Order: sequence, then structure tokens, then C-alpha cells
Amino acid sequence: AAWEKQVRHSSTPRRPNGFSILVTGAAGFVGSHCSLALKKRGDGVLGLDNFNDYYDPSLKRARQKLLSKHQVFIVEGDLNDAPLLTKLFDVVPFTHILHLAAQAGVRYAMQNPQSYVSSNIAGFVNLLEVAKTANPQPAIVWASSSSVYGLNTDVPFSELDRTDQPASLYAATKKAGEEIAHTYNHIYGLSLTGLRFFTVYGPWGRPDMAYFFFTKDILQGKSIDIYQTQDEKQVARDFTFIDDVVKGCVGALDTAEKSTGSGGKKKGPAQLRVYNLGNTSPVPVGKLVSILETLLSTKAKKHVVKMPRNGDVPFTHANVTLAYKDFGYKPTTDLATGLRKFVKWYVSYYGIQTTKLKKDSELNVGTPED
Ligand code: NAD
Ligand code: UGA
Repeated sequence: AAWEKQVRHSSTPRRPNGFSILVTGAAGFVGSHCSLALKKRGDGVLGLDNFNDYYDPSLKRARQKLLSKHQVFIVEGDLNDAPLLTKLFDVVPFTHILHLAAQAGVRYAMQNPQSYVSSNIAGFVNLLEVAKTANPQPAIVWASSSSVYGLNTDVPFSELDRTDQPASLYAATKKAGEEIAHTYNHIYGLSLTGLRFFTVYGPWGRPDMAYFFFTKDILQGKSIDIYQTQDEKQVARDFTFIDDVVKGCVGALDTAEKSTGSGGKKKGPAQLRVYNLGNTSPVPVGKLVSILETLLSTKAKKHVVKMPRNGDVPFTHANVTLAYKDFGYKPTTDLATGLRKFVKWYVSYYGIQTTKLKKDSELNVGTPED
């Protein structure tokens, strides 16, 4: 295939003993940031993404363009395309997979349940089926979600806390992913590390997420809904800045042990891990909005409403002791600082001219590529 040459080239490690990593969902928000970070430190990186239109595909194409400037190539294809995945593993002996491709978003599951089953369950199984027969068997780090804690309100959440109350089909498919990982680890000796991300935000983010469309709607003078619980408590999220999450992903990859492989020559049990990657500092949605109002120098038209039963959960809050202990994960970005970087990117990306916006110097951030 035409892409083979580029693939061989782009996934060749440039640092001694560097990884050769397949990043699924590389045109996505988290995937594009991780791909760049891994490439910049000298790992061989190849992306895979189906560029679906769950949100504006032109944003995915813009991320792809940014990655291609750094010689990261993205193969356009689907997780469920077994022949394509087999071919990729035939061409490149990947040492690691960073599996981030999924149908994300909690509320959209009510409109399109099948896309969650197809990408998050069937697609994950398809990837594991190919990985189990690959030589070498790659170590796999994949995105789970804080949503697995579901309706549990006993915060902060630790990894062993209950995850038997999913509030959305999205959460159920992410929880299913954790169970599926257990099976492939047990039977085939695959090394698997699940990362439960907590509401990740930042430059190049997802237009379907609240911080993103709140920014858009505030600038356009449209009213926004701020959810509260049925008993009128403020809904809160442990919003986590993208750069912190990227460091967590890299730390998890760096500490992933090799797969042991199935069959006679097992050297011991293969690694199976799950970690919270959060910010440890939950913020009410009302506070998120007031930070945006300050950054945008614009009053929001706020509409406080009781949270509909739409898959959302009332509170999230991560305990990250385990990730700190095992790979030094320590979030360092507070919400105001991270949102400043997001707003700076947003106005630059969409070419928004407004005298009301704080000057770059006041926003106090670097370039959008930072
Ligand atoms: P994203 O939607 O920006 O990225 C996912 C990418 O995967 C997209 O580019 C999409 O085109 C691609 N994709 C989807 N289904 C595919 C398929 N079947 N085959 C090939 N490509 C496919 O989302 P994100 O925010 O970058 O999330 C990355 C991962 O982290 C996802 O697994 C998501 O569920 C998880 N997660 C995200 C957050 C968050 O707040 N952003 C929080 C918790 C978990
Ligand atoms: C986010 C991602 O969208 C999921 O893909 C991810 O799995 C999840 O984080 C996670 O941490 O696991 P969520 O926290 O719901 O999900 O993020 P948003 O959809 O951006 O919502 C943020 C907050 O704003 C939530 O508390 C939500 O209830 C609230 N919200 C949302 C409103 O108050 N009003 C709205 O109109 C929409």
C-alpha cells in the first residue's frame, strides 16, 4: 500500500531503545497531544483514526496537519477493520499501543447507542485480537474513564471503589472495556494499563464538551444551561488539563512491562493495571463559567437547570495516589490557568476578533502549540 513507506519511516524510533507506538484516535483531542509529545522525545509514532463526524471533522484534519508537520502520519481506518490492523502489525513491530480511539461523550449515547458498542466494545476487542497474535506482543495502555464510578457520590474516587452503577451507555462500555482487558490479560498474557481520565480540557479540545461550547455560546451571546442536582447542589467536575494527562499517558507507557504471551513459556503473570488520572481538585460548573466570563470579559446568559437524566453524573473527584506512586503522576495545572490556555487557542484558531478579550499579555500564555 502507498502508506507503507511513510509508515515504516514514521514509526522508526529515533532515540536509543525508543518505543514504536501505535496511537489509535490520533486525530482526536488527547491522541493528537500524546502523539506529538511522544514524537518530540524521539519515539516512533504511527496514528490510526477514522475521522468520523461525531464533532467537526475539520478540527480533526487540522490536528492531522499539525502532526504531519512533525512527521507523525495517521492511517485513515477503523478499529473494526481487522485486515487493516493485521497489515499494520505486519509492517511495523509495535512495542506499544496507546489506544485512545473511542466514541466519547456521555449524553450523545442516548441518540446513537450503537456507535458506543461498535467503537468501545467491538473495536477494542478487534484491536486486542490482533495484538494477541502480533510478534512482539505490544504492551497496551488504553483510555478508560472517570464515568465508570457512575452514580457513586462517595468522593474522592480510588481505583478499588465501586464501579457497578454506570449512569450512561458510554460509562457501561468503558467499564466493559476494563472487564475485557482483564480477560485478554488472563488468557493471552497481554500487558494492559487502563487510565481513567477525568474531564480533560485544553487547546485543540473537543467541541462537544461543556467548557468548549460554553466559550462559543458566551461569545455569541447565547444562553447556557448550568446543571444542578435534583436536590439543588452544584454539579462539579475534576477538570484535568491536557498537558497533565499527556504526562500521565507517557508515564504509564514508560512503566508498562512487556506482555508475557500465552502458552508454555510464561515468565509470570502479565501486567494489568488501572489508574485514575484526574486533577484532585473538583470545581463546580458555575465556577467554570465564572472563570470563562472573566477570561472573555463577557457576562454569560446563565440558565440554572436541574440536571436531566441524560447520562451525566453529579460529582467526580480523583484520588491519584496510585499513579503518583507508580509513575510520578502529579497534576500541576489549576482550572483558571488551563482555561486561559484554552481561550488563547480558541480565539486564535477561530480567528475571533474582539476588543473585549483580554490581551495576550494578560492571558499570560505561550503559543497555541505549547
Ligand atoms: P476524541 O473524540 O477527540 O478522540 C477520539 C478519536 O478516535 C477521534 O478522532 C475519532 O475520530 C476516533 N475514533 C472513534 N472511533 C473510532 C474507530 N472505531 N476507529 C478509528 N478511530 C475512531 O476524544 P478524546 O477526548 O481525545 O478522548 C480520547 C479517549 O479518552 C477516548 O477513549 C475517551 O473515551 C477517553 N476519555 C476522554 C475524556 C475527556 O474528557 N476528553 C475523559 C475520559 C475518557
Ligand atoms: C467528559 C467527557 O465528555 C467524556 O468523554 C469523559 O468520559 C468524561 O469526561 C470522563 O471524565 O470520564 P463530562 O464530565 O460530562 O464528560 O464533560 P462535559 O460534557 O464537558 O460536562 C462537564 C460538566 O458540565 C458536567 O458536570 C455536566 O453535567 C455539565 N454541563 C454539561 C452543564 O452544566 N450544562 C451543559 O449544557 C452540559
